Amino acid sequence: MHEPGRSGNLIILCTHNDGGVGKTTLAVHIAGVLLSRGYSVLLVDCDDQADLWQFFTKGKIPTQSKDSEDLENSKLIWDKDKGSLKGKANPAYFDHVVLDIDTPLQNTVQVIL
Ligand SMILES: Nc1ncnc2c1ncn2[C@@H]1O[C@H](COP(=O)(O)OP(=O)(O)O)[C@@H](O)[C@H]1O
Ligand SMILES: [Mg+2]
Repeated sequence: MHEPGRSGNLIILCTHNDGGVGKTTLAVHIAGVLLSRGYSVLLVDCDDQADLWQFFTKGKIPTQSKDSEDLENSKLIWDKDKGSLKGKANPAYFDHVVLDIDTPLQNTVQVIL
């Protein structure tokens, strides 16, 4: 974890209107690189199918939207309702944020974060 407000944070959107185009695959790989380098990462899975979530929880099925799992110094959240994460996770406390989301609308991402 780092001090809030430090510069250099990335918010990485893996997004597209269509399914089956590689959003989750890209999110898994980017997250894997960042995690393996020791960064603290907030991973947000906004897909009903929870594929990103299941990859990092070894197949666990989330029960309700906003379920979260701690991954060492990182955190994984399933936000299928694409609602605000206020009170659940503060992106400012993570080095980077990776979102797997099927809409590129910037205001949706602003609402979430
Ligand atoms: N760069 C790629 N080259 C070839 N196949 C890919 C690539 N990225 C993803 N795939 C495959 O495409 C399929 C859909 O990928 P997925 O990441 O689940 O898409 P999405 O999350 O957009 O629905 C999967 O079978 C995945 O293995
Ligand atoms: Mg997907």
